Amino acid sequence: MQSLDDVLADAFRRLSRGVADRRSAFRSPALATVGADGWPQVRTVVLRGFDAAVRLVTVHSDLRAAKVTALRSDPAVALHVWDDGAQIQVRLDGIATISAGDELARAEWARLHAGSRAAYRSRPSPASPVADPAEIPRMDEDAAFAQFAVLRIRVDRLDWLHLGREGQRRAGFSWRDDILEQRWLAP
Ligand SMILES: Cc1cc2nc3c(=O)[nH]c(=O)nc-3n(C[C@H](O)[C@H](O)[C@H](O)COP(=O)(O)O)c2cc1C
Repeated sequence: MQSLDDVLADAFRRLSRGVADRRSAFRSPALATVGADGWPQVRTVVLRGFDAAVRLVTVHSDLRAAKVTALRSDPAVALHVWDDGAQIQVRLDGIATISAGDELARAEWARLHAGSRAAYRSRPSPASPVADPAEIPRMDEDAAFAQFAVLRIRVDRLDWLHLGREGQRRAGFSWRDDILEQRWLAP
């Protein structure tokens, strides 16, 4: 039988693979935040980095996006992945920090393909009304970089659920001061 250590190692491997493998379900998790009005918000993001040693997830966004505004008032986030092939759901909770215009943002920006950078060249802020979706005014790359945000999420809790032939298995992992607590849970 798979041990709790094996489960966690497998979840971390899948997260790492999600960064590199476009076909992995872990490539595009759902990221949930809480708005300043207390309302939950959720959207798909691309997993840009995962450092298992320090449990850090990296995501990119536009500094003007609602999710970044939400994080300024409440940095608590949840990430959700359903891997249909593996029949595994992974949910992560953590605290996000926002970096923009600094060394970290510059390094992440440099790693992006031109196509990905282009996503940050919209002059109107995300979610502002536009007359024609095919004619959105664009900024140059320097101005786009000023809008580029790197979100880093320190994972404090991981909830794992596997739908197996023999039934469901669930496990919970949490870290306090980097001390791991892990246990099997009733699904
Ligand atoms: C497959 C996919 C990947 C996406 N990746 C990102 C991403 O990495 N960062 C991001 O800010 N938005 C990404 N988006 C767009 C978001 O889902 C969302 O529509 C947008 O960021 C605005 O969200 P907000 O208003 O809640 O901030 C992605 C959307 C899809 C469908």
